[in-house]
Amino acid sequence: MEHLVDRTLKTVKRGDAVLIPVTAQPRFDLTPFRARLEEHVDLPHRFGPRDPRRELRERLSAAGIPSEHAPRRWERIGDVLVIRVPSEGQPRARQIAQIFGTVLGARTVVQDLSGIHGPMRVPDVRVLWGHGTETVHVEGGIRYALDVARVMFSSGNVGERIGIAERVRPGAVVVDLFAGIGYFSLPIAVRGRAETVYGCELNPVSFRYLVENTRLNRTTNLLPILGDSRKVAPRGVADWVIMGHFDARDYLDVAFDALRGQGTIVYHELCPKEQYPDAMIRRLAAAARAHWMNVQAIHTRIVKSYAPGIVHSAAQVEVTRQNRP
Ligand SMILES: C[S@@+](CC[C@H](N)C(=O)[O-])C[C@H]1O[C@@H](n2cnc3c(N)ncnc32)[C@H](O)[C@@H]1O
Repeated sequence: MEHLVDRTLKTVKRGDAVLIPVTAQPRFDLTPFRARLEEHVDLPHRFGPRDPRRELRERLSAAGIPSEHAPRRWERIGDVLVIRVPSEGQPRARQIAQIFGTVLGARTVVQDLSGIHGPMRVPDVRVLWGHGTETVHVEGGIRYALDVARVMFSSGNVGERIGIAERVRPGAVVVDLFAGIGYFSLPIAVRGRAETVYGCELNPVSFRYLVENTRLNRTTNLLPILGDSRKVAPRGVADWVIMGHFDARDYLDVAFDALRGQGTIVYHELCPKEQYPDAMIRRLAAAARAHWMNVQAIHTRIVKSYAPGIVHSAAQVEVTRQNRP
């Protein structure tokens, strides 16, 4: 490799050709690659600085804003930036947002005011800079359209989303009891090649995006169902049941009813750290027994630390039907 690509400039398409910026003339013959060198081509600069943190510090300091008054981290969902502003920075929150938005190349900057709320997991944000909170977030080749002000998206759960698609075997029937905008349903349907994924979603706003996202990702095997999964989830059909909600423990009966004979349940909960994983394992084993199922295998993991002393934990439980006497 000659490391010739100039990473400060953008690669662009021109008709059927692709213009790749280089820092010097290649020493090898380009003809076998059906390529040629063109000189003095004006290619656009890549957007965004190479060291955004340094640029943020410099811009904040030029505006007379101490860096402790500004966020140290941010979350990027599509082209919307989500920040938390320390209380000292509140009076100049809009100016801070403008600096973050321009340096980090966002369209809109919103302030996360108080986290995610209620069973429908609704965010509480206000726009500080820019226009529009509807965006398309691309992750692992999947496109998630959503409104950052109305629907949650936890970028920290990316490992979960990608991992699950790889574990569900091709041809499986999947019931997602809390589909949201398709956090798990979409990767399973698109990358995992499940035969059918039933995605149940209670919140009409999330449901609208779930439907839009099936279209956006051209999936034909994801069937969105609007309503409370307790009432609308199909029964006796699933090889896999996905429960991506912290209230999942209240819906274990729905999950077992959705299975057809043996199957796998992916379960999430919030758990006091010192009780992990024993309490979760006991809960799942008891629910299985109550539905005449045996637990064949159970894999537990901590997804992330949620609050002091509380972990977001997950389990993958494989069950088979007991022979009733
Ligand atoms: C927390 S979100 C999923 C988050 C996701 N696991 C992630 O990685 O970011 C859970 C979704 O379940 C929906 N929901 C809550 N209760 C429900 C129910 N009883 N039936 C169907 N959907 C429900 C909420 O509206 C929300 O969209």
